[in-house]
Amino acid sequence: MLVNLNDMLPAAANAGHAVACFNVFGNEEVVAVLAAAESLGRGVIIACNKDMASHMGVVGFAGMVRGLAAAASVPVCVHLDHCYEEETVFAALRAGFTSVMFDGSQLTLEDNIARTARVALVAHAFGASIEGEIGSVPYTEGRDHIRSELTEPSDALAFSQRSGVDAMAISVGNVHRLQTSTSEIDFERVAQIAALTDLPLVIHGSTGIREADLLRLKKLRVAKFNVGTTMRMTFARSLRASLDADLAQFDRLVLMKPVLAALQAEGARVMEVLG
Ligand code: 13P
Repeated sequence: MLVNLNDMLPAAANAGHAVACFNVFGNEEVVAVLAAAESLGRGVIIACNKDMASHMGVVGFAGMVRGLAAAASVPVCVHLDHCYEEETVFAALRAGFTSVMFDGSQLTLEDNIARTARVALVAHAFGASIEGEIGSVPYTEGRDHIRSELTEPSDALAFSQRSGVDAMAISVGNVHRLQTSTSEIDFERVAQIAALTDLPLVIHGSTGIREADLLRLKKLRVAKFNVGTTMRMTFARSLRASLDADLAQFDRLVLMKPVLAALQAEGARVMEVLG
């Protein structure tokens, strides 16, 4: 069943639970993530990142995911991850995404609020939800234009009151694309932000966060955790093993069977921590 963030996150934030948001890069991950969500009876968010949006286009992505999401027995949100241009956000909304992120984190506070608020009006007119970012979550590699800047609680308050977003991504020591769980989360900062707003909070870079810290964060109104790298590593590891296991095998469906199982297991592991 297709839903947006507002159907999932406020209830989760109030109950101290969280919803996993998986970046997917092809049909296998979509199928595996939905199977994991259905096996646990949990809602899930499937996200299209910037690389994927340029690889297959938002129309192609929506076409790949929407039908499966609508047929799923659990709530599924089809979400556009970090997007810096309004035009792509609007194209995603027209294509049937149920949720979008407009990322104004590299702008000044006032510009971030003003541009996000305009996009929020459009997203809401489509019946979609919108996530924004305040402060700036760094990347381990790539995305040279991305600053590293912790979220100031006073900025988070202004952003939550004036940007029109439904969920607010914050920078509190989390880092995108770490391959091991080594982030040092500033829990004092998260608690200060959580005390100032009723909005569900979002944490990016979840692969790099220790399980114990994920559990603490979800008690502080963090209701959406973005997960990418661990699934990409699982995909590559299991595909390599599958190819090596039978050098004569060339049937994609046979080769992908253990990959699907590995992705489903990793997706379910993450969802169990967060649910
Ligand atoms: P990781 O790849 O670090 O898990 O983060 C994904 C993410 O935050 C996408 O927005």
